[in-house]
Amino acid sequence: MGAEGEVKTVCVTGASGFIGSWLTMRLLEQGYTVRATVRDPGDERKVKHLVELPNANTHLTLWKSDLSVPGSFDDAIHGCSGVFHVATPMDFDSPDPGQNEVIKPTVDGVLDIMKACAKARTVRRIVFTSSAGTVDAEEHPKPIYDENNWSDLEFIQRVKMTGWVFDFPQFYIYLFYILIVVDSFDR
Ligand SMILES: NC(=O)c1ccc[n+]([C@@H]2O[C@H](COP(=O)([O-])OP(=O)(O)OC[C@H]3O[C@@H](n4cnc5c(N)ncnc54)[C@H](OP(=O)(O)O)[C@@H]3O)[C@@H](O)[C@H]2O)c1
Repeated sequence: MGAEGEVKTVCVTGASGFIGSWLTMRLLEQGYTVRATVRDPGDERKVKHLVELPNANTHLTLWKSDLSVPGSFDDAIHGCSGVFHVATPMDFDSPDPGQNEVIKPTVDGVLDIMKACAKARTVRRIVFTSSAGTVDAEEHPKPIYDENNWSDLEFIQRVKMTGWVFDFPQFYIYLFYILIVVDSFDR
């Protein structure tokens, strides 16, 4: 990521989580400067393992960002060449996954991060973690899935799967933003 000799600064959202922590460790091992976003940098239970990683004292900084707070990723992303968007609300037992606790902050947060990347004008690449749920949610699961498979939206809605209350207009706006932002990076 970036030309040889260039300072490689990347942002990892949700750095305190399972994937984010391993990712941060690997990036630090490989000499990247990492801006790790967490909702509460003062919460030692969540950040202690990050600040104690090898190279963290010289190459890691913590940034306060929340998917529900518009613009809160702007500062962390500004000046980065890459963004790993890993943060996501993972509350599968939420009584209100649709509009407030899971889907809305997830979708709004992705849009906000895409806007922050576009504003920064330094970001060359965005990596966004997906889920097996995008390909294998269907009535009769297959033994093997590949890039040709997509989950059955009709089935997901019919059985009201966890987090099924996906707002389709927002989904298409979200795809539209991704296309615009990615397209602008290629120029
Ligand atoms: N774990 C797996 O095996 C696996 C497999 C496939 C895909 N994935 C995908 O990888 C991504 C991360 O999964 P994970 O297992 O690492 O989840 P995780 O351990 O729950 O970490 C998610 C992180 O997101 C942050 N977060 C939650 N709500 C937030 C909000 N409103 N604003 C900002 N940050 C928020 C939390 O950090 P703070 O509270 O500290 O800010 C948390 O540490 C997800 O998209 C998941 O679908 C995971």
